[in-house]
Amino acid sequence: PRAAHGELRAPRDLTASPFLAAARGRRPARLPVWFMRQAGRSLPEYRALREGVPMLKALFDPEMIAEITLQPVRRLGVDAAVFFSDIVVPLVAAGIDVDIVPGTGPVVAAPVRDADAIARMPELDPARLEPVIEGTRLVVDRLGETPLIGFAGAPFTLASYLIEGGPSRTHERTKALMHSEPALWHDLAARLAGIAVTFLRGQVEAGADAVQLFDSWAGALTLREYREFVQPHSARVLAAVADLDVPRIHFGVGTGELLPAMRDAGADVVGVDWRVPLDEAVRRLTANGEPTPVVQGNLDPALLQASWPVIEAEVRRIAAEGRAAAAHIFNLGHGVPPGADPEVLTRIVELVHSLEP
Ligand code: CP3
Repeated sequence: PRAAHGELRAPRDLTASPFLAAARGRRPARLPVWFMRQAGRSLPEYRALREGVPMLKALFDPEMIAEITLQPVRRLGVDAAVFFSDIVVPLVAAGIDVDIVPGTGPVVAAPVRDADAIARMPELDPARLEPVIEGTRLVVDRLGETPLIGFAGAPFTLASYLIEGGPSRTHERTKALMHSEPALWHDLAARLAGIAVTFLRGQVEAGADAVQLFDSWAGALTLREYREFVQPHSARVLAAVADLDVPRIHFGVGTGELLPAMRDAGADVVGVDWRVPLDEAVRRLTANGEPTPVVQGNLDPALLQASWPVIEAEVRRIAAEGRAAAAHIFNLGHGVPPGADPEVLTRIVELVHSLEP
């Protein structure tokens, strides 16, 4: 029977989870693997369920959330589920007019660009997230011994969507605000940090076993910009869930120059994209005598379209390089593209599981 928030729920036995062992820095019994964006358009059962259902409707429907989160776990045999939601969900719940446009991504009706708009940014009342958190509870009750990863968008990546009004390659307005109006920037980023904390705490309190903070577009920043304008806000988000005692993964694309700074923000696991080999990522993360990190990554999603011998060689190379870390969680270097073949993903999971952790 479904347990409501706060009620006693039969505790799940996750002691054998290779994903959680690795995320906590221990050598797991087998090399764990999950895929960012594993729940989504690459799966025919996802496309069937979403037929005629707008994205935002699905994202606030507890049964949809639960079913879509479970689909890749059933089909692919991955070692963790990732909550079916989106980084803009807490913004929508807070009352900000954001749509998710197919093929484009989040689009903001009234971009947040000046002092007035920033001052009007609503706070997120946790009650507004209730259908989403109900979805988390349903997932947890149905997952059995597979851990659930909750997530949130980091303040910079969320701010970029709000300021630019949609996806941006250059993040021009965001960087302009940051440098020209630093006080306004910090005000906006602090508000977004608060929203991310509410979203993450809700998921973990409802049973998520780990969290990932997505700062997908942080790679557009210099190290100096990151340290000054972004790291303090992401650090606040990660610190605000430290008491919940779940491993915290921190990921962005193109962040080779930022890896130590992203670790310093408070990550237990550093996500690495395909541009930096994992052994090189470990070198960068230990350059000043820091402890050997746990890393996650980093097969290039584009190579999912390559021939199997190419993919197999890449998976073996990445697993070997990952052995330089304290522990390695296998993943792609970014999300599963909509055109990926789920059979290839399944085959990768089987191969990863046959390799030495
Ligand atoms: O499987 C999972 O990883 C969980 C689901 C998930 C979604 N979004 C569902 C989704 C996760 C973790 C996200 C996070 C997210 N959303 C990020 C960070 C991760 C990353 O990829 O860097 C970002 C930047 C977004 C913003 C966003 N939402 C984009 C860029 C898009 C793609 C737009 C498109 O159509 O190509 C979305 C939409 C979105 N979020 C989809 C899904 C399954 C596709 C929409 C659909 O199915 O109609």
